[in-house]
Amino acid sequence: MEFVQPLLEWYDRNKRELPWRGEKDPYRIWVSEIMLQQTRVEAVKDYYGRWMSRFPSLPDLAAAPEEEVLRYWQGLGYYSRARNLWQGVREVAASYGGKVPDSEAAVRALPGIGEYTAGAILSIAYDRPVPAVDGNVVRVYSRLFCLAGESETALKRKIAALVAGHLPQERPGDYNQALMDLGATLCIPGKPRCDECPVRDFCRSFARGTQQEFPPKKKKSTVKTVELVAAVIERHGAFLLQRRPAQGLLAGMWEFPTVEIETGGDAAAVESAVGTRTGQQVRLGPKLMDLVHIFSHRRWEIAVHHSTMTVPGDLPPEPETRWVNRKEFPQLVFAGPHRKIAKTVAAQELPDGAVRGKL
Ligand code: ADE
Repeated sequence: MEFVQPLLEWYDRNKRELPWRGEKDPYRIWVSEIMLQQTRVEAVKDYYGRWMSRFPSLPDLAAAPEEEVLRYWQGLGYYSRARNLWQGVREVAASYGGKVPDSEAAVRALPGIGEYTAGAILSIAYDRPVPAVDGNVVRVYSRLFCLAGESETALKRKIAALVAGHLPQERPGDYNQALMDLGATLCIPGKPRCDECPVRDFCRSFARGTQQEFPPKKKKSTVKTVELVAAVIERHGAFLLQRRPAQGLLAGMWEFPTVEIETGGDAAAVESAVGTRTGQQVRLGPKLMDLVHIFSHRRWEIAVHHSTMTVPGDLPPEPETRWVNRKEFPQLVFAGPHRKIAKTVAAQELPDGAVRGKL
């Protein structure tokens, strides 16, 4: 295809300087690609650097405990990505002698690796001609060819087939990354910078002036709002914390006891729900803060209250419940917004002689 060469030449002159650029180690490419899912490049750079200082090679990550892995991920969000990455790496260590396999089927079978990530790893690390179609590539190709689809998946599939036919045998990884960079820097959402585009002469939507119509707008997903109350219960400098279930949202992370409330639910109902969760009789005190945390399909609105125990009870075995001193907070992985609560209470007055940990 005529635009392949001009695009590669543009890439050679204009590619973004990224910490993982020029990398051939499939493990390192894998980590960068997983971090970049749902997270901006700028935010990923620091995390990637810290990660590589601590887990420079695949065996280092495979040997690390899960808690530590999650701590290095803390703040990037979508923790299942970190868990899958760690499990995938352990699988490669156990089944492939620590070398990431170079076949599409084997890479796709690893946890957390979908079509895009497999394409990125195989094309960049192993020079395999496999497409890696992310949101940027969809935008570039849908504009180049004025393409729409029955659904987002159908459009992506169409584009993957086209890219597969255009991938140059000698530089497939660079071609995939050139498309991503073009989409990230020039062929941007909204008003693209067509005057600087190396493939403008081949672009059908530029010729017709219809760049804004591609890719077609997504249907809005409905985000459900959930109202919650979190109770900060303190006793002698220790706080009651609970571990979230092993499956589901923010699985296995620690939080201050939290209950969902019906809109307009009164304090007595909340106190009773917190009591059931914690095995304590609890009275809600003054509000410490309001927090909002947004997931892809859910929005948590959390009212955080200081709370007191009126009658201490036994801690329930489920969910896992513990009294945790402030200075142990840095060892825990907190669930999303609960880290902010932990930071706030850790910064408050400490009893004499207590040592404040760093979060
Ligand atoms: N976004 C995700 N992975 C990328 C890569 N390898 N190059 C450019 N942008 C990316």
